[in-house]
Amino acid sequence: MSDFLPFTRPSIDEETIAGVAEVLRSGWITSGPQVKAFEGRLSEYLGGRPVRAFNSGTCTMEVALRIAGVGAGHEVITTPLSWVATSNVVLAVGAKPVFVDIDPATRNIDLDRVEAAITRATRALLPVDLAGLPVDRDRLHALARKHSLRVIEDAAQALGSLWRGQRIGSFGDLVSFSFHPNKNITTIEGGCLVMNDEREAALAEQYRLQGVVRSGLDGMEVEVAGGKFNLTDVAARVGLGQLPHLSAFNARRRELARGYFRAFAECGAAELGLRLPIADFEQSNWHMFQVVLPEERLSIPRAEVMARLKDSGVGTGVHYPAIHLFALYRRLGWRPGDFPHAEYVGRNILTLPLFPAMRDDDIIRVVEALTAVLRAHIS
Ligand SMILES: Cc1ncc(COP(=O)(O)O)c(C=O)c1O
Repeated sequence: MSDFLPFTRPSIDEETIAGVAEVLRSGWITSGPQVKAFEGRLSEYLGGRPVRAFNSGTCTMEVALRIAGVGAGHEVITTPLSWVATSNVVLAVGAKPVFVDIDPATRNIDLDRVEAAITRATRALLPVDLAGLPVDRDRLHALARKHSLRVIEDAAQALGSLWRGQRIGSFGDLVSFSFHPNKNITTIEGGCLVMNDEREAALAEQYRLQGVVRSGLDGMEVEVAGGKFNLTDVAARVGLGQLPHLSAFNARRRELARGYFRAFAECGAAELGLRLPIADFEQSNWHMFQVVLPEERLSIPRAEVMARLKDSGVGTGVHYPAIHLFALYRRLGWRPGDFPHAEYVGRNILTLPLFPAMRDDDIIRVVEALTAVLRAHIS
């Protein structure tokens, strides 16, 4: 058997590794000059908007909700098909997530259904660009304007994705990105929040570190109950080494995704009932390549498909089970059947290997392995 192919793997170059060693030797390893420099580069990349770095793409959203004044008694409209962080942060600030089912083609929140979910308590829309495929920003922001809502974009997976040629994050309201190792660039753990103005950025800095505001040599004030969300300089140095590669990484991802479509067409995947993602080569950063298995025709469960693929050297992942069916959310009142599209996709979605260092023939290997498993277990 050839080497095991994981579903994702970060690419970190030697220059970055040497840079991290330098930071470690510098005497300043927590938030400092590297974080400032990283924020500057991110801001340049995102059209000059204010950007602050954090230690996750979860706390960025929690802070965004606080900046937007969302709290107890408020509702936030979001998707049930995301990493659970997306709705956990709504609970964390004391507000109520209101799920709206997905469009099964894009696997993103179905904007046609959003308006019906808006109530007097709604304060914000919190959409997710699953796998980097952007939610329609024109419709999203038109809805927000019409109903005077804030928008917190969970663009954790969408760094480098475009909407009508503009980078996600370079426009809009509050935009959150993650730099978790699976993402298109990493800081090991980390994230950033893009904001509208320096007032929001100053507030973000307070929420990031215990609410502290310093002045002079010894002045300290605390205005808000902030958290401990600051990024370290070691992590920021990784990010500084990653960001210059982002465009090339994304181009390679796009090329590999094209390879998947070609290989699946040649293997007759459509006849097997396998649902491929939308073939978007304009806007998506191809954060993931995800297929949906044909549950109705398959005689083995998804876990068994994953096990067979693993045996043939192919790693896969599940991103994600529907959030409202987790025990916590069931206790809050959600039930199976509430969001049928998200539930179906959540049960059957499978993330295939996709990362910049993959070889073209890895794609063939994955597609042959998956179609072989399907052929053996499909009616
Ligand atoms: C859609 C989505 N939202 C939020 C997050 C949270 O990011 P982090 O893991 O950096 O906290 C992630 C990534 O893990 C994600 O994929």
